[in-house]
Amino acid sequence: MLAAICKTYGGPDVVHLREVETPIPTDREVLIRIHATTVSSGDCRIRGANFPTGFGFLARLIFGLTRPRQPILGTECAGVIEAIGAGVTRFRPGDAVIAFSGGKLGCHAEYRTMREDGALIAKPAGLGFEEAAAIAFGGTTALHFLRGPGKLRRGERVLVNGASGCVGAAAVQLAKHLGAHVTGVCSGAKSELVRSLGANAVIDYGSADFAKSGERWNVIIDTVGNAPFARTRDALTENGRLLLVASGLPDLLKAPFQSMTSGRTVAGGPAPERVEDLALLATLCEAGTVRPVIDSSYPFDLIVDAHARADTNRKNGSVVVTLDARV
Ligand SMILES: NC(=O)c1ccc[n+]([C@@H]2O[C@H](COP(=O)([O-])OP(=O)(O)OC[C@H]3O[C@@H](n4cnc5c(N)ncnc54)[C@H](OP(=O)(O)O)[C@@H]3O)[C@@H](O)[C@H]2O)c1
Repeated sequence: MLAAICKTYGGPDVVHLREVETPIPTDREVLIRIHATTVSSGDCRIRGANFPTGFGFLARLIFGLTRPRQPILGTECAGVIEAIGAGVTRFRPGDAVIAFSGGKLGCHAEYRTMREDGALIAKPAGLGFEEAAAIAFGGTTALHFLRGPGKLRRGERVLVNGASGCVGAAAVQLAKHLGAHVTGVCSGAKSELVRSLGANAVIDYGSADFAKSGERWNVIIDTVGNAPFARTRDALTENGRLLLVASGLPDLLKAPFQSMTSGRTVAGGPAPERVEDLALLATLCEAGTVRPVIDSSYPFDLIVDAHARADTNRKNGSVVVTLDARV
């Protein structure tokens, strides 16, 4: 099969298309013929060894000391099951599916195997492959933070910092769905997009600092990494929750102490890859409650350009890569 291989850490041009062995599904695995995948901020972090402050060594232990241990990046995909292992009962060849491999990567290829009990669900018929490929990475992260440490309740006020990005666009829509009043922070040019996702209010970070606005929020979700507790404390209500999606180790180490001494909650860390969350997101997308935002779409042979676009840190939602003319 053809795969995008990344044999060294570096810029987008370290990614090359190469023929590699097609994986063979084991007993409880399915083989997916991938129709669409994404180049996420996570792929860019790993490819560039550009990890949040303080995580460099730990991340290299996980992802590879001197080069990516898994040379095929890609955290999410949508496709059709081509073959199944002898013990598979939940899926059959021909089923259209959505898979979230997360940190195990491997979706930038024509085929990927997945365990049938992994983060793998049937693709709703109403969702195209490109949209279906773009719901897991940002959606599961936003869902985890808002419902988990965010403990978001109906009627609360939420601020989403980085509201036009992959995680941010999902957070705006999911917070609305959960009954919150939502403020999105983005550049001025993106305010229309963020409003169209359901934000009640938009703050242009180029002309105003939300943390000095005098307003307060029950939940602040920071997907940018520039809103630590020291900056946002006074913008949080007394029992407010600050969700650090993109912070470095120093801010995460301070979080328990800040939570203990302030009455607020400061929480961060990696979001889990849960099949229930993926299934809920797919249902919400099919119902039209959540819309996967697609920044741009590239054919597989231009995946280097897709990396370059994702690397800009200015994308809206997801950068999609298609592997099949039929999508
Ligand atoms: N903890 C976890 O489990 C987890 C999971 C997924 C992702 N992450 C991390 O979360 C972060 C966001 O991921 P993502 O996939 O959403 O990234 P992304 O899609 O690349 O986000 C790009 C967005 O950030 C916005 N932005 C840049 N500077 C900004 C600023 N100063 N204020 C407000 N918005 C700004 C850009 O909007 P403008 O063009 O308007 O500037 C752009 O829309 C990354 O650092 C990623 O590593 C963490």
